[in-house]
Amino acid sequence: MPYNFNGKNIFITGGSTGIGLESAIKFAQLGANKVFITGRNENTLNTAKELIGKNAEIIIADVGTDAGIKAMVDKVAAGGIKLDVVFANAGIAENNTFGETTNDEFDKTFDINVKGVFFTVQELLPLTSDGASIILTASIVSHKGMANLSLYNASKAAVRSFARSFATDLKARNIRVNALSPGATLTPIMQNGLKMDTAALEGFKQYISQAAPSGRVATPDEIADVAVFLASDTSSYINGIELDVDGGLAQV
Ligand SMILES: NC(=O)c1ccc[n+]([C@@H]2O[C@H](COP(=O)([O-])OP(=O)(O)OC[C@H]3O[C@@H](n4cnc5c(N)ncnc54)[C@H](OP(=O)(O)O)[C@@H]3O)[C@@H](O)[C@H]2O)c1
Repeated sequence: MPYNFNGKNIFITGGSTGIGLESAIKFAQLGANKVFITGRNENTLNTAKELIGKNAEIIIADVGTDAGIKAMVDKVAAGGIKLDVVFANAGIAENNTFGETTNDEFDKTFDINVKGVFFTVQELLPLTSDGASIILTASIVSHKGMANLSLYNASKAAVRSFARSFATDLKARNIRVNALSPGATLTPIMQNGLKMDTAALEGFKQYISQAAPSGRVATPDEIADVAVFLASDTSSYINGIELDVDGGLAQV
């Protein structure tokens, strides 16, 4: 069945680059009425808006802060519309050394990846339609213990857990909630968050080519295709799951 988002309103945190941006472009191409995207950097948001087209609405907001959550809610409320898809996708991935990790590092990852997802979904609930689809970007690390990423791994385990709980708590409103867990995907997070230089990125790609049955890293486009699927009526009986999109990396 071809996807159709005609007249639908889509909200994507972290929609300025990577997985969120590719998803926003797809939703717009599939007829969405409004595609709200958020991020902290105004320049990347403006560039993204050019790529998405006239239906894009940008919101400069840090999901890890109360002010950022309020800015998102205010913008949607001002539009006088209800959301059909909420894609809580914004997140950071930063290495932390167990034994030397600071309170600030802990708070930063949990404020953005955990509190940010929780309060994005909760505070937008009054502006979300009954029957909507909510998608939370977790990661295959939700069920792995990747080295030097204990904070990130745990934050994504929390996100996966939210999908179970929110699906239960939103039953009466017929809102589906699922976690989308990418594997290794080529996005700016590799440079910005994980601080990989060219050599480190090549080494990582080489490792994935050996470790993943699909023999390569993903493109953000491939993850966005699955976000569209989970947002669509084609996945109408999928609820509370974690869908790994990882080329088999964490499956074997
Ligand atoms: N790439 C992978 O291999 C991979 C694997 C598994 C899971 N993921 C998850 O996929 C999601 C998207 O990441 P990506 O790979 O597409 O990386 P990305 O290109 O770096 O995208 C991250 C997005 O989140 C935004 N963001 C980060 N911190 C934010 C904050 N505090 N408030 C609002 N927006 C914020 C970024 O914009 P600003 O920086 O301008 O705020 C950007 O739009 C993340 O949750 C990540 O953990 C990625």
